[in-house]
Amino acid sequence: MAQEKVRIFDTTLRDGEQAAGAGMTTPEKLEIARQLERLGVDVIEAGFAASSPGDFEAVATIAQEVRQPIIASLARAHPNDVDQAWKSLQGAAHPRIHVFLSSSDIHIMHQLRKNREEVMDMAVSMVSRAKGYCEDVEFSAMDASRTEPEYLYTMLKAVIDAGATTINVPDTVGYSIPEEFADLLRSIQSNVPNIDKVVLSVHCHNDLGLGVANSMAAIQVGARQVEGCINGLGERAGNAALEEIIMGIETRKDYLGVTTNIDTSQIYRTSRLVSDITGFPIQPNKAIVGLNAFRHASGIHQDGVLKERSTYEIMDPASIGWPGISLVLGKLSGRAGLRARLEELGYHLSAEDLNQAFEGFKNLADKKREVTDRDLEALMSDQRRAVTESTTYTMEHIQVSCGDHEIPTATVRLTGPDGSVMTDASTGTGPVDAIYKAINRIVQVPNTLSEFTVKSITEGIDAIGEVTIRVQKGDAVYVGRGADTDILVASAKAYLNALNRLLAMEEAKKETPTGVPNP
Ligand code: KIV
Ligand code: ZN
Repeated sequence: MAQEKVRIFDTTLRDGEQAAGAGMTTPEKLEIARQLERLGVDVIEAGFAASSPGDFEAVATIAQEVRQPIIASLARAHPNDVDQAWKSLQGAAHPRIHVFLSSSDIHIMHQLRKNREEVMDMAVSMVSRAKGYCEDVEFSAMDASRTEPEYLYTMLKAVIDAGATTINVPDTVGYSIPEEFADLLRSIQSNVPNIDKVVLSVHCHNDLGLGVANSMAAIQVGARQVEGCINGLGERAGNAALEEIIMGIETRKDYLGVTTNIDTSQIYRTSRLVSDITGFPIQPNKAIVGLNAFRHASGIHQDGVLKERSTYEIMDPASIGWPGISLVLGKLSGRAGLRARLEELGYHLSAEDLNQAFEGFKNLADKKREVTDRDLEALMSDQRRAVTESTTYTMEHIQVSCGDHEIPTATVRLTGPDGSVMTDASTGTGPVDAIYKAINRIVQVPNTLSEFTVKSITEGIDAIGEVTIRVQKGDAVYVGRGADTDILVASAKAYLNALNRLLAMEEAKKETPTGVPNP
């Protein structure tokens, strides 16, 4: 008998972006959306169109470009939000309006400052409004897990009558315990008479570290859509990690008896891309995608795995697209060898992009004897940043002098947005400070550097160094990353990357300020 499918709803671009400091530009979101399409997710929540012009643009662009999955646009239960959501979905092959409204008394009384009847009316009328535009309407009862059950049942029945096709039960504040959450879903199934007309969905936050466990418990009792983010990104402690749910379903299909439409071999690439773009590192012991997830350190485990892999491995690393044994390329490797290795790592490049990658590879191979998979990933990330950051300033040249008896001094030459070349210099307390001050003299965007980390990508003295920084302007935080064998060059690249993203996001905000807060 065919196994039932659980739909995978990815909200990395909406709830994931709400993680402090995870802001993304439209080209970056589009790149993630394309990768999510390769991964095979059923629904991509591309943004909250009414919240800002940048979000509107991102939803509209993704709707136009990404044709396979359903594209959802989030809306509060307000007429303008629903209208904006629909407008943003005009180019979509498979549009969905996702209306949400709080149902718990805590939210109704203290945040919405309304009574239950008023909230019920808003839910029904906004679902009807959305239905007037679009066949596919999802309704989320925000803070459902802390809602008085009878009120929740009545609200869900009413919005289904009004046309909702998916009902989402969010554990908005990550408060539930798995058995309790499963009971809530069971009670919804028994007390909402028309619930069998819709897909029942869950959306679990991770405040108690139970986001994935709650989602799995819900699947066991009949939820057929799960919402979450890649790498567990998201508001506060994040959302349920989608790669964990997907591999849980895949690995334990014997027990759960369900399946998904996901191509699991795309998980590794998707996870790295999201980490790379958002600047949120993946902890080494993170399930499924952490660096140590398939590393066996203990002698007994190594012995077992060498004799028979299934002794200590419940998943084949290849099934998530893990690159496996790191192959090494060098100075004498040719274009065909580079292309083959990049394809094995999941990068399928156009002829033009391959030329650019080959140039970068040759430069790197001149500096480093051996170029590993991690080096290639860093190279590809750098190339991606140059293409997608809708580059405002590019670095032409940087020169630094420092030492224990010298005043650190940096000279930088940048090309500006209009193509003009500008050179400036500055001293600083150290070489990085001197570089950043010299860049500031040209770019002139006030900001504060709030985080600076350098990590070595591979072992050895000639390793590539990767710099991740965060800069703050007002309340907004912007991440920047750069990689190079010279960490001062990597630091300069990271700073320019952050400034270019800051300028792009400020530009997107400027056009028509709306100022709607995120859910
Ligand atoms: O956590 C939540 O309740 C949400 C809703 C908008 C679905 O993100
Ligand atoms: Zn959420």
